[in-house]
Amino acid sequence: MKGLILSGGKGTRLRPLTFTQAKQLVPVANKPVLFYGIEALKEAGIKEIGIIVGDTKEDIRAAVGNGDRWGIQITYIEQDQPLGLAHAVMVAEDFLGKESFVMYLGDNILKDGIKSLVKDFKKKKPNSQILLTKVPNPQMFGVAELKEGRVIRLVEKPKHPKSDLALVGVYMFDHHVFEAVKAIKPSWRNELEITDAIQYLVEKGYEVQPHLVTDWWKDTGKIEDILDANRLILQSIEGKNLGQVDKESKINGQVMLEKEVKVERSIIRGPSIIGRGTEIKDSYIGPFSSIQKNCRIINSEIECSIVMQDSEICDVGTRIDESLIGREVSISKCPPKPSVYRFMVGDKSKIEIK
Ligand code: G1P
Repeated sequence: MKGLILSGGKGTRLRPLTFTQAKQLVPVANKPVLFYGIEALKEAGIKEIGIIVGDTKEDIRAAVGNGDRWGIQITYIEQDQPLGLAHAVMVAEDFLGKESFVMYLGDNILKDGIKSLVKDFKKKKPNSQILLTKVPNPQMFGVAELKEGRVIRLVEKPKHPKSDLALVGVYMFDHHVFEAVKAIKPSWRNELEITDAIQYLVEKGYEVQPHLVTDWWKDTGKIEDILDANRLILQSIEGKNLGQVDKESKINGQVMLEKEVKVERSIIRGPSIIGRGTEIKDSYIGPFSSIQKNCRIINSEIECSIVMQDSEICDVGTRIDESLIGREVSISKCPPKPSVYRFMVGDKSKIEIK
């Protein structure tokens, strides 16, 4: 069985971060989202993975490499334009050949991985296996209607959903899916929808097996979901101190301090992770914080947030909460007079002040 990870797309819901980086490389607990998918496939015994790339192909290639680090083989497959998930399958036909495969959306994270699901698929050999989960806002997803445990209808982002069962971004197919992706027409958003391809399989009498996911799953397409995923992943992090912590500092709970981290006169509460070379002075880092490498947090307070590499937060008087801060960002205090806010922020930034 092969793997196909989709890592194209523009990530418009994550601007401005996605003006300069791929959404699949946004870090969750200091690890790019995409790596969770690669590791889930590897854990399920898949050794050959194709990654569909678009405009951000260079960044993805640079971050992921050829798969050696995981002991797997990675092939990059270019999709010229983001014409939909089913279009990505079409583009990957040469790579996939006649083999069954797992298609994994590169911005999805599933707590339990997919090992048992792949095993189940290999044993029962349906033509497709889809993963479903109950969501409060089904109109934002592909939605499945079941009858007596069988899939009867799938609709992409329906205005009036017939159920609250959303399609999770992990699918399994045999080669019949190629017939489906070639038969369907583009949707209202001008994309070839994988949901429509699966609906085609259902209509033609192919076996589409549903599987209900009960543990957490996150599609990290929006900031709230990234922060949620960060919280959920950090919940199971193990504390370890590879850095330097002075006597006036306190580390509580599960806190991972990477090498060359320096903590002075500060409090860090876990679960949190602090990346290599980051300095924390006279500060409070609260639970569910992921601070990447080479940051400086000086005389400030932050919690439930992600700070990406090479950023600096100095003398910020109010605690920063629920924030996603990009790379090489500087947040600092203005001189005392005049009493003003001063900004230099890129397009589509979002700032909330009290
Ligand atoms: C895509 C699929 C949708 C699925 C979702 C899961 O949506 O089209 O059916 O429920 O992924 O993450 P998109 O992220 O393109 O809005």
